[in-house]
Amino acid sequence: MSEGYLSEGPNRGTVAIRFSDAPYPIMRLAFPSEMSDLLSMDISNTPDRTIRSYDGSLLDAILPILRNLVEAACRDPGSRIGSDFFREHVLVVEDFCRQLAPLFGADLGIVLPAAILHDISAIEDFSKVAEHHTLGAIRTADILRDHGFSEEQAVEVSACAQLHLVPVPSGTYGPEAACLSHADALSQMARPAYWLHYAGKVRGLGFDEGRGWYRSLVEDRWSRLTDSVKPVAKPLYRKAVDACEARQ
Ligand SMILES: [Fe+2]
Repeated sequence: MSEGYLSEGPNRGTVAIRFSDAPYPIMRLAFPSEMSDLLSMDISNTPDRTIRSYDGSLLDAILPILRNLVEAACRDPGSRIGSDFFREHVLVVEDFCRQLAPLFGADLGIVLPAAILHDISAIEDFSKVAEHHTLGAIRTADILRDHGFSEEQAVEVSACAQLHLVPVPSGTYGPEAACLSHADALSQMARPAYWLHYAGKVRGLGFDEGRGWYRSLVEDRWSRLTDSVKPVAKPLYRKAVDACEARQ
């Protein structure tokens, strides 16, 4: 397994991941421009920038398979959530996880599979949405075992996915759970149009009811964010709140 570390790339919008013994020692990850504010975060004091379990060749092979699996589940005619969810939420959470991982010192080998799979239970059976974090954790571990992950890694990813519901502190729950749970919250703030649509189409709420539901969600998530994330999340929070404003 390769040991690697993250460093900011020479160009804004990229982060280099280096592996000492990998056949392709440097991999650059490009981020969407809308997330670029996060890249200006000072990560020089991040306590642990080592990627402990990131096996580049395994993840490069497995992440597209996991994305395909989740996208297919979203597209399934039996899924109440529907295909928009994959693009507007799952991929957005994955992008935020890549950006927040250096801040929390989170292990991408745990966080990225968890980001892709964290809502799988709600996608496959929306009637279980209230318990989707717990059921999803079980499903996540099963999927990873089926795809060659070690038992230890499957359990770690599963535990991370289970803690995604609201932003949790790294000191109590670990850097991976903190990273994913903050990424999930930021994704909800970054896509107000989608979540207002979700409130109506998926949750069956009326316009005002749906707007109130989304506003409450955003305020709750904002109140739970770790202080170091709030400065970079503030524009996203304002964007979400503005989308909820009623016409005077
Ligand atoms: Fe989510």
